[in-house]
Amino acid sequence: MNVLRTAVTGVGAYLPERIVTNAELAQRVDTSDAWIRERTGIAERRQVADGQATSDLALEAANGALTAAGRTAAELDLIIVATTTPDLTFPSTAAIVQRKLGCPILVAFDIQAVCSGFVYALSVADGFVARGLSKCALVIGAESMTKLMDYDDRGTCILFGDGAGAVVMEPVEGRGDVTDRGLLGFALRCDGAKQDLLYVDGGPSTTGTVGHLRMAGQQVFRHAVVNITEGVEAAARIAGVAVPDVDWFIPHQANMRILQGVAHRLGVAEDKVICTVDRHANTSAASIPLAMAEAIADGRIKPGQLLLLEAMGGGLTWGACVLRL
Ligand code: UT7
Repeated sequence: MNVLRTAVTGVGAYLPERIVTNAELAQRVDTSDAWIRERTGIAERRQVADGQATSDLALEAANGALTAAGRTAAELDLIIVATTTPDLTFPSTAAIVQRKLGCPILVAFDIQAVCSGFVYALSVADGFVARGLSKCALVIGAESMTKLMDYDDRGTCILFGDGAGAVVMEPVEGRGDVTDRGLLGFALRCDGAKQDLLYVDGGPSTTGTVGHLRMAGQQVFRHAVVNITEGVEAAARIAGVAVPDVDWFIPHQANMRILQGVAHRLGVAEDKVICTVDRHANTSAASIPLAMAEAIADGRIKPGQLLLLEAMGGGLTWGACVLRL
């Protein structure tokens, strides 16, 4: 049976130049390089320059993805930006990226699912493509998470970094089985009852401020390791694959111990796990496409391979996606 699949045809990424080491953070809060490495696996993270907005990061990643796909901005008909750190309350960062790319009129909007935003955005783009509403979509995860940090809170300010990753997505014909190229299965979840575990304490309709990120680290950690496996297994079941058979596991990069714990519970071999958290820290919606772009650029991930993406974040939201590159 012929089916329309949504394929990733190009991947791009961008990291701001400035590197913030653990030693630098230890000058601001009571922490140490040894503690951060041991508890999180993080050695450094990137930080946006003064005057550099989330849309600027997104634009760089978008241009990389368009080049990799052999497409131009003029060919795009859909832009989705997954971000929890938009340039402005409105317009959407996607609309700003459209202007900066110089695209013609198209569909553009942001998705807010925090660290799960990229996986959520892939599923939305897949809906547009599958219904014939998009022939060339750009999905971006872009974040300036350092802007949300309380630099008096050592439990959170060491964990996050800035960056962006992007993919171009296009329709391809498939046979309706697991050999198809493109997105093969999703599972998305949200449990709003757990919002107090991870949130930002500001917003336009409440405080009128941007606010700072607040997190009950241990509880979020437990949720991440325990509950994500159900979502991942659901996505794999829909895709028709067994989790240990994927070629690469690309988890949201929050904490090395979470990555390893989730991979272990899922039965994914350690050498199949793509890991960037040591250098990028947690870049929220940007972490998966950043990791994907790095592993494609260095030749680990090859066309035709089966990828398993998984994320968990504020909401609490979580989700997973299986795709063949
Ligand atoms: O995108 C998804 C969202 N985020 C995550 O997935 C993160 C989930 N959580 C975590 O990664 C971990 O819980 C943390 C890295 C945040 C904390 O690690 P932990 O092993 O759970 O530490 P803890 O919260 O149990 O704290 C242990 C101790 C505490 O001291 P006392 O009360 O035992 O004296 C903390 O005050 O470590 C202390 N602590 C620190 N010490 C040095 C907390 N942060 C730091 C720090 N440096 N940066």
